[in-house]
Amino acid sequence: MGKLTTILFLCSMVVIAQGLEFDKRPEAVEKWFKTLRLKKEKVTKLHFYFHDIITGNKPTAVQVARANTTSDQSPIAFGAVFVMDDPLTLGPEPNSTLLGRAQGIYASAGMDEVGFHMTLSYVFTSGEFNGSTLSILGRNPILNTYREMPIVGGSGAFRLARGIATAKTYWFDPTSLNAIVEYNVIVIHYE
Ligand SMILES: *[C@@H]1O[C@H](CO)[C@@H](O)[C@H](O)[C@H]1NC(C)=O
Ligand SMILES: *[C@@H]1O[C@H](CO)[C@@H](O)[C@H](O)[C@H]1NC(C)=O
Ligand SMILES: *[C@@H]1O[C@H](CO)[C@@H](O)[C@H](O)[C@H]1NC(C)=O
Repeated sequence: MGKLTTILFLCSMVVIAQGLEFDKRPEAVEKWFKTLRLKKEKVTKLHFYFHDIITGNKPTAVQVARANTTSDQSPIAFGAVFVMDDPLTLGPEPNSTLLGRAQGIYASAGMDEVGFHMTLSYVFTSGEFNGSTLSILGRNPILNTYREMPIVGGSGAFRLARGIATAKTYWFDPTSLNAIVEYNVIVIHYE
């Protein structure tokens, strides 16, 4: 290998190890848009586990508001609003490799059945998508086996992304209300 090839090879290794650094200056974003028609769409699949920890010594989801009619006796809890910074991990174990965080808000928005409205970002902090985010906005009827939520955008590697996140509860403890949810995400974005 020549010296230059070796340097290029080492640089590409660093890029793979840390994820791509995206130039977030307005002129760089504008340039990205100008070359958009030359870019190819690609499909990326992601799989991870979401840890929603409400009780315990380090909760990652906290209730910040509720209506005066919100009932603790009913699982519907209509009117309760939570803010989360939930870990996303490779495997279901809490100590599995951390891929990122789910940061945002969920609110109990169903009056007659459990239906959470989710507004959040997946913030990737390791691997290929380190530094990129995906935006999720949709309804999450948490008692259903499968839930489907739209991915409405993203940043970094996921600029102008769209897709679907499907959720399936992996583990739920009705006493602590803590849950581990398996997510399969399929997203269309640009190369
Ligand atoms: C993710 O990216 C940040 C910023 O570029 C970097 O400091 C960090 O080491 C990366 N993390 C991993 C696990 O690669
Ligand atoms: C809830 O708040 C509304 C408006 O302030 C009030 O009229 C109502 O009596 C309250 N209900 C309860 C159960 O406290
Ligand atoms: C994760 O925790 C389990 C028990 O809770 C333990 O058996 C396992 O060794 C831990 N794995 C790592 C990578 O720390």
